[in-house]
Amino acid sequence: MGLKVALTYNLKRKIEDADLPDDYYSEFDSRETIETIANGLRSGGNEVFLVEADRGLLNWFQNNEVDIVFNIAEGLDGESRESQVPAILDFLNIPYTGSGILALSVSLNKALTKKLFEQADIPTPKHRLIRQPSGISDLGLRYPLIVKPNSEGSGKGITVTSVVRDREELAREVERTHRIYKQEILVEEFIDGKELTVGILGNDPPVALPILEIDFSNCKGSGEYFYTWKVKEYEKEVEESLGLSPLWHCPARLSEADTAKVKDVALKAHSVIGCVDLSRVDIIFNEDGIPYVLEVNPLPGLDPKDSNLPYIAKCAGFSYAGLMNKIVEVSLERHKIKNKNLALQERSLR
Ligand SMILES: Nc1ncnc2c1ncn2[C@@H]1O[C@H](COP(=O)(O)OP(=O)(O)OP(=O)(O)O)[C@@H](O)[C@H]1O
Ligand SMILES: [Mg+2]
Repeated sequence: MGLKVALTYNLKRKIEDADLPDDYYSEFDSRETIETIANGLRSGGNEVFLVEADRGLLNWFQNNEVDIVFNIAEGLDGESRESQVPAILDFLNIPYTGSGILALSVSLNKALTKKLFEQADIPTPKHRLIRQPSGISDLGLRYPLIVKPNSEGSGKGITVTSVVRDREELAREVERTHRIYKQEILVEEFIDGKELTVGILGNDPPVALPILEIDFSNCKGSGEYFYTWKVKEYEKEVEESLGLSPLWHCPARLSEADTAKVKDVALKAHSVIGCVDLSRVDIIFNEDGIPYVLEVNPLPGLDPKDSNLPYIAKCAGFSYAGLMNKIVEVSLERHKIKNKNLALQERSLR
């Protein structure tokens, strides 16, 4: 494509402070992922600049000109951290791939996301949001429940102990999660069913790629039976030896009608949150055929070896590099349309 592309990222580091939880940097990207994305973009004929999204970011963009930013940065701190890079880029009027400030802020707040799902008749597990861990009264939810930090991703805070079966376990887990993550706690009904995730790509219209089913039947020995942090974060080779490596079926083992139902609900969730270019929607499909949407990930992991979306894209016929360049292409197209509409609007105002 011959563009100047800045790749904005946060680098995963080794944990040196013993007070930090093991999953502290889990949302950030490894050097290998960053390099593989950059090489993919270079293979599309682009010049790529690696820009770490630290406090020098604004300065870098004030001193360097690029055509587009390929944004995978998850942000540094705070409840809307994923919006930090888009906010700076919007401020400077620089186009970037992926969703904007609002979609990234909303999707990082699981309870708020679920409110929007409920309003749009998108099935989502019943939940309560807990602001203070002390004195939990009857929540009016049906056990088993799952306890999660309200504003994290990459499985942070999610272990087999997150699923609780009575009031005592609930209190213990809410206290533990609150102590470590220091934020509001989401308690949801735990849905028994098939774990599915749907990759979405493009804008006009967004397209649901083949559904990925994650099958934990061979993880029984390790005691992990759903997508916990351990299963997500441990590298493939380590996972296999520990029985932490689920099977991936893509397309998912669903009938044609159920496939269409799941894709529909995923596309609806993507647009209700206001996502653009790409996202990944996590769903549990229960025995009654209800696709419960857990959340939307507008910044899906792009680890070439371990992440769901590159694997899904591969099943849809994209090489890794092909996927990276496709993301840039759909984003550029979107920006072109936006600029054209702005120009038309300006002309009509004159
Ligand atoms: N209500 C639920 N019912 C059944 N399983 C659940 C539920 N909530 C979470 N899970 C399990 O926990 C996993 C992680 O949950 P969730 O997607 O909410 O966390 P996350 O950290 O945001 O994930 P991601 O890595 O996709 O960002 C799910 O993929 C699923 O296996
Ligand atoms: Mg998820």
